Parts: sequence; structure tokens; C-alpha cells
Amino acid sequence: MAHAATPMPLSAPPSGPLSGRIRVPGDKSISHRSLMFGAVALGETTIEGLLEADDVLGTGAAMRALGATVTRLGEGAWRVAGLGVGGLLEPESVLDFGNAGTGSRLTMGLVGGHAIAATFVGDASLSRRPMGRVLNPLREMGVEVIARAGDRLPLSIKGPKTPMPITYRLPMASAQVKSAVLLAGLNTPGVTTVIEPVATRDHTERMLEGFGASLSVEIGSAGERIIRLEGRPDLRAQHVVVPGDPSSAAFAVVAGLIVPGSDVTVENVLLNPLRTGLFQTLIEMGADLTIENERLSGGERIGDVHVRASKLKGVVVPPERAPSMIDEYPILAIAAAFAEGPTVMEGLDELRVKESDRLAAVARGLEANRIACLEGETSLVVEGRQAGVEIGGGTVATHLDHRIAMAFLVLGLAADTAVSVDDVGMIATSFPSFRSLMEGLGARFAEV
Ligand code: S3P
Repeated sequence: MAHAATPMPLSAPPSGPLSGRIRVPGDKSISHRSLMFGAVALGETTIEGLLEADDVLGTGAAMRALGATVTRLGEGAWRVAGLGVGGLLEPESVLDFGNAGTGSRLTMGLVGGHAIAATFVGDASLSRRPMGRVLNPLREMGVEVIARAGDRLPLSIKGPKTPMPITYRLPMASAQVKSAVLLAGLNTPGVTTVIEPVATRDHTERMLEGFGASLSVEIGSAGERIIRLEGRPDLRAQHVVVPGDPSSAAFAVVAGLIVPGSDVTVENVLLNPLRTGLFQTLIEMGADLTIENERLSGGERIGDVHVRASKLKGVVVPPERAPSMIDEYPILAIAAAFAEGPTVMEGLDELRVKESDRLAAVARGLEANRIACLEGETSLVVEGRQAGVEIGGGTVATHLDHRIAMAFLVLGLAADTAVSVDDVGMIATSFPSFRSLMEGLGARFAEV
């Protein structure tokens, strides 16, 4: 789990046209969940296309420590022999989640629903991120927490003998918090209810239903989603096929749009409507982006995303779209730097508590490369292309954040002079094949 102590800087010089067809690795959200749900289902869950990146491997190790048998069968092919709801065992050592917010927070929910104790640790980035958002509802369910001030990692939790079902209204748009409460609700007698004022990615709901949970989603009078989960279901092992991660595809898609002369297709991408805000925004910006070969796989819409280099224009991205593209703002900011006119992004409060303060990290990275922007408390305005200004030439601080590293390498491919990032080690947390796939499209990177 530990990130290599020595930073690995990399530089992206301006590139010739990118072209070709690629497949990006499996969706990170679905990969984490397939291992977790497999661990609490009865029987052998098999997974095809699992994302084999540090964050997800950490979840696999945690499920093993909690008693499930997790076996790698081949590339992306995994088997999880589960213990059934309520069957998790107390781990004998700490659970190390490295950089992974999703892995750690969802596992807190799972552990909190069992009468076992576990200690959670992570890297410097994860240890700075707020965990109270998950611990508070778990405390209401009867979970004991030992944490330092501010509810940061490292921390320990112990689930009660019989958790209390709660009705929890999410104070922030977070699929991780929603999922943690629902996962604790799995081993709670009665009905656990989560109310989401704004819809966030719904993989937990869809997949739990697929594993046999009794779960309903109702839309309330103010448009809120009311999710009710019946506790103590018999979850049954499933075969899960993980589609390509739209949040990883985003880097090749934007590169294909901003590097002149490019023509790029990313095949087999998850197109769940709660994940496609970036593609919608790029189309509004004038991108030549089409979805080809659209089909259904494992209950999810998937397709091939085809882009050709395009003249983009600045747009206003409404705050209500943020949950459907929350991980894509860094790469959207790069697309916006090549647009005609400003792009206004609002409702970005959650960006401040990602792997880094992404709002600040993006703004500093843009400034270091002579791209004008205005950082507000919860908003970002990126001025488009300015006549006579040569962009690029800067070195970007990545703050242990994989998406900051990848976004600014993509900037370099389309800038006037090379862009360097101070560390690419973290890219392995979500997209280990980023460099080789981009090189397959024609990009070249240089060690610095
Ligand atoms: C995720 C939810 C989002 C997202 C993260 C994955 C998930 O986090 O940023 O990369 O799989 O549930 P929040 O729930 O904190 O918004």
C-alpha cells in the first residue's frame, strides 16, 4: 500500500496527433464494491475486469483480513468466497487503505455493522481527509469510535452487537457516505433509510439489488432520493463484469479533443448517467464526441466514446451537475484552458476534500502554466485561450493526487511548451496503465 518514498517526476512535451482505440481499466467504484459485496455474500463471487490498482488491491487485502477468501485467477479475474451478511471476522492487524477514500469509508460501514473491532490507517493524504462524515451516522447506529480530534485516520471502530437502524439525510453529496450507511445497514435488523437531496453515483444500490438485497428507491416531493434497505438479507454470490472507468477514460477523451489532429476512441466505457457529467459538458463546449456501439452489460449502459480534436467554447457548468462529474473537474479545467471564452464551474465544495484540495491544486497548476483562472471558495473560472500567451512550461505540485498528475500531463501534450508534474507514483492508485495507453495513442513523456 505504501507509496514509494522517492517522488517520480515526469514531463509531457507537446504531442503530435493522438490516434487509435484503447480500453481503460475497470471502474474503480464498481471494483471496490464487487470485492466488498462478494465478501458478505454467500458463495463464490467471480469478477471479470477488476481494476488492479493500489486502491482496489487494498480493499481486496482488507476483505481478506476480515475473513473472506480473495483469489486472483488471472488478469482482472478474481474470486471472492464470501462469509454471508454478519459473517465478517475481527482482523488480526490494522487495515491499511493507502490513498483510498472509497475503500476506507465503505469498509468502515461494513465493519460498523459487525460486532468486531478494526483499526484503519492510510497514507498522508488519506490521513488528512474527513472521516466524521461517515463516523457520525455510524455512531448513531451504535458504533464506538476511537479517533483523534477531527475524526481523521488512524482510527479504530467497534460495531455493536445489534446495530440500530437509522434514517439518515446526507448533509453533503457523497456516494461514499451513502454507501457506508447502507453497508452498516446490511447487518442491522429493520430498515435503514438514506435520504439524498442530490443524487450521487448509485452503484451501491444497483449492485446490492443484484446480489439479492431488498432495497427500494423512492423520489420524494422535493426530488430527493429515499433509499430503504431491509436489514439482514441473504446476499448471493454473483458474476460481476466491471466496465471501463469513465473517470480514467476522461484523460484520453480530453487529450483527443485538445491535441490538434487527434482521433481517439475509448471502448467499453461505463455510461451510467450519474457518471457522465463530463461528457455532457464537453458536448456543450462543442466537442466532437459521439457514443458508439451503445449496449447494456450487467445492468449498466456502456459504449465506446469517440472524439476528434475540436474547437471548444467556454460554458457555465451548473452546480447540480457536480456529483455526476466530481472526479472530472481537474481534467475539465484542462479542456477549458483551450476553449474560447471562460468556463465557470460552481458547487465545487467537495473538491476541497478529495485526495488533495483539488480546487487549490488545479488553480495553482494552471497558474504555473500561464493559464488565467479565478479560484473562489466553491467555484473555479478558467479563462480560455488568450491570444499571444504561450501556455505550459510549469512544474505542477500533485499533493499525492493521481488525478492532478494525469490532468496536467494531458495539459503538456497540448500546450506550447512541456508541462512537468512533481510525482507520478500515485497514478498507480487508480490507473496504472495510464502512461502506456497514452503512449499507444502516440503521446511521449520524458523522465526529468
Ligand atoms: C466514490 C464516490 C466519490 C468519488 C470517489 C468514488 C465512490 O466520492 O469522488 O472517487 O465510489 O463511492 P464522494 O462520495 O466523497 O463524493
